[in-house]
Amino acid sequence: MKIAVAGTGYVGLSMATLLAQHHEVVAVDVIAEKVEKINKRISPIQDEYIEKYFAEKELNLVATLDAETAYRDADIVVVAAPTNYDSKKNFFDTSAVETVIELVMKYNPNAIIVIKSTIPVGFTESIRQKTGSQNILFSPEFLRESKALYDNLYPSRIIVGRPEGDARLEEAARIFAAILQEGAIKEGIDVLFMGLTEAEAVKLFANTY
Ligand SMILES: NC(=O)c1ccc[n+]([C@@H]2O[C@H](COP(=O)([O-])OP(=O)(O)OC[C@H]3O[C@@H](n4cnc5c(N)ncnc54)[C@H](O)[C@@H]3O)[C@@H](O)[C@H]2O)c1
Repeated sequence: MKIAVAGTGYVGLSMATLLAQHHEVVAVDVIAEKVEKINKRISPIQDEYIEKYFAEKELNLVATLDAETAYRDADIVVVAAPTNYDSKKNFFDTSAVETVIELVMKYNPNAIIVIKSTIPVGFTESIRQKTGSQNILFSPEFLRESKALYDNLYPSRIIVGRPEGDARLEEAARIFAAILQEGAIKEGIDVLFMGLTEAEAVKLFANTY
């Protein structure tokens, strides 16, 4: 499959590396230095397993600043853009995630969009309504910084949130869970499919604990 990953931080770069073992991955960022490093197989973040996989594995991975080309060709766009919590305004800044979704809608409205960024409960449903996209899923990410790729090679569980009663998105959710399992080393990973809001709440409560 052709997969674009938006954002090359802990979440995006671990996803891109995991998926590039078996799929054609283009990682998009807005910082040129990060893109250059990834294309030279130098990890821009400190992560033992990403460094190891960059050195040892054959990865089908290219990084770029050119979002249009990356999203236009993708079957799946994984969104790992930042969503910092603004404690002054008391809200999650989801603007980078919204920018990515708007670009995908513009260049490739048929692509399946999987949000991996942490978002407030109800965000996926509201962005589906706001943009009119029928193609957005949410998959919470549970990795720890500096063990980012390790935690995706040995995930505690895989959760994919999708709207209930939509057979096409049910299939898309199963495909996404399958490609995460394909890239992982751990066998018998617990995989859970649930409603979008429920999946968002799982991430919120996991963070709280
Ligand atoms: N770091 C963690 O431990 C962790 C764990 C679970 C979930 N998350 C969530 O995942 C998301 C990403 O976290 P992270 O730690 O990887 O963040 P990060 O800040 O390390 O990386 C985000 C990357 O996205 C890039 N970016 C910004 N705007 C962009 C755009 N419009 N298009 C493409 N790239 C863009 C940034 O330049 C940066 O490289 C956040 O919502 C975070 O809350 C993080």
